[in-house]
This record gives sequence, structure tokens and C-alpha cells, in this order.
Amino acid sequence: MWHPGHVLAIETSCDETSAAVLRGSSVLSNVVASQEAMHAQWGGVVPEAAARAHVEAILPVIQQALAEAGIERADAIAVANRPGLVGSLSVGITAAKALAFSWGCPLVGVHHLEGHLMSLWANGAEPELPMAGLIVSGGHTELVAARRVGEWELLGETRDDAAGEAFDKGARLLGLPYPGGRALAELAQDGDPAWRQLPRALPQSPYEFSFSGLKTAMLRLVQVEGPNLPRADAAASLQEAIVDVLSRKAVRAAQALGAESLGVVGGVSANLALRSRLQELCDKRGIALHVPELSLCTDNAAMIGLAGSMRLAKGERDGMELDASPSADLPGPQ
Ligand code: KG4
Ligand code: ZN
Repeated sequence: MWHPGHVLAIETSCDETSAAVLRGSSVLSNVVASQEAMHAQWGGVVPEAAARAHVEAILPVIQQALAEAGIERADAIAVANRPGLVGSLSVGITAAKALAFSWGCPLVGVHHLEGHLMSLWANGAEPELPMAGLIVSGGHTELVAARRVGEWELLGETRDDAAGEAFDKGARLLGLPYPGGRALAELAQDGDPAWRQLPRALPQSPYEFSFSGLKTAMLRLVQVEGPNLPRADAAASLQEAIVDVLSRKAVRAAQALGAESLGVVGGVSANLALRSRLQELCDKRGIALHVPELSLCTDNAAMIGLAGSMRLAKGERDGMELDASPSADLPGPQ
């Protein structure tokens, strides 16, 4: 299932510059340089600034990943090449090509969301198949079916905002700094999730999501309540609306597929309220729940290495024409 040698992986699709070294599914190093603090001053990711910051960070991050793994060169290279910010992706791809050329080793481009899904296989973990997969990040909310590793069938996705975006926009309205998801979750710990029933969109559509109405509902609350807004209660009510919809639809998908397991990945899978709700629902139905360890939830290169190592073991290779794409479908069944 894995490439037999050391795989160097590179991830630069958004605002984290990351490099990792893997041997099989073992993560030997996973270095992440976050640009979060820089983008916080603008309240969101500025693509031009992100690409420049990747240029500055990429070589030191790769050197550190190699040093921590105790190697000077790898046997193969995996790089996230789609989907994402093209200027950011191009920095990682260029570094990957240069190293593959000078080391004379194979190179493979990886779909970023396949990377998130493959984070479930890190360090010897083996989720039972068939598996329903929920990808919840800052840019994506997708439900997939996996009958085999690397063969992902899209069941449904969000029609507008991603789940992470809903957290981030809500956080912004509550005066929390970008990206906001984690800060909102912390604020929600002291709040009452039943303070207000915020909208749950698309109850009839089992695998599709819509979160843009939540932002509008939250804006109205902020305007109506003004300085009297109980911020912790508002945060808890918003989190509850997101967690409720995500967990119910994900578990329903697992049941409809007759899946043995449910895997939940991406930045929002770090959310503890989501994790405990899913655990409760899965326990009742005899479904095994798999979530990555916290360091593998948000963007990182180890997950790209897992996906790349799996693709390399299937014999897949890319040449020097490998390019960045802003959007791309997940690799499906052959
Ligand atoms: O997967 P990721 O690092 O980047 C993308 O590929 O988009 O996900 C980032 C998203 C952000 O929206 C962030 O606010 C959210 O994940 N996030 C959280 C938590 N930690 C990160 N959302 C809710 N609760 C958290 N604990
Ligand atoms: Zn991501």
C-alpha cells in the first residue's frame, strides 16, 4: 500500500507552509510554518501575501523536515498540486520539481482533499472499509463514500460556505480574530447551545449542506442584541447548529452506505463538540468513528505524504509538466 522508501511531502495550498518525511505510514517529521498571524491583520488570506510567505519559508521548512527525520535526501517526493491558491501551490510544486530533478527521484502530485482523507491512515491506522468520509475544512465541506483506498465517490457537498467558513464568519461577527474556528469553539465552552435555535438548512437533502444562512442569522442577532449580546451563548448556538447538521448527515450517509466506519477530516474535525457528538451517534449505531490526531486535522504535509506514498505504490508518477489547479475533483474509482 505504501512506497517502500522515504517520501518527502510538501504542502503549500493555502496559508501553511509544510514539509514532512514518511516511511510507509509512519510520520518521521511534520513541520508546519503557519501564516495565520500575518493574515489575521487583514481578516482573511491574501493570496499574493501567502505566495510570498511560502517563498520565504519553503526551503527552511524542507531542511528542518529532512533534519528531524535524520535523512539528507528522500527516495520520492509528493506535493499538493490541486485544489488551492495557484500562486501558493506553485511555490511547493517548484521546490518539489527542483528536488526531484536534482535527486533523480520520482515525483507525484496529490489532491489536497485526498491528503485530508489519507490522514486517517497515519502511523499504522487502518479504517474499516467501506467508509463514509466527511471532509470539513475552511474551503470544503464534502461527504464521500470510500469502498477502496484512493477511490472516493462524492455524495454531496456544500452549496455555498464551507463549515470552517461558517465558524470563521461567525467568529468575526463576535469580534474574534481570523481564522476564528478554534477561538469560537473555546468561547462556546461557557455558553448555552440552546440559547437560540439557529437555522439548519436543507433538511430534505441528505448529503448537501448550506451554511450561508447561518452567517445572516448571526449578523441579525449581533445587530438586534447590540452590546447586550451574550457572546458565549451566541458562539455555542452557532457551533451547535453546525455540529448538529454535520453529524446527522455524516452518520446518515454511513448508515445508507452500510459503511463499517465514518472518517471525519479537515480543520473542523479538530472541533471537540463535533467529535463528541459524532462519537455519541456512532456508538449508538455500531459505526466505528475515525478522526485524525489534532496535529493532522489542519493543513499539514504528512497527510500529503500518505496520499502520495499510496499513489506512488500504485505506480503513479508525474513529470516536470506537473501544474497547479485551483479546482479539481477527488480521484474516483478506476
Ligand atoms: O483544513 P484546514 O486547515 O484548511 C483548509 O484546507 O481550509 O481548515 C481550516 C479551518 C478554518 O476554517 C478553521 O477555523 C477551522 O478549520 N478550525 C476549526 C477548529 N480548528 C480549526 N473550526 C472549529 N473548531 C476548531 N477547533
Ligand atoms: Zn485543508
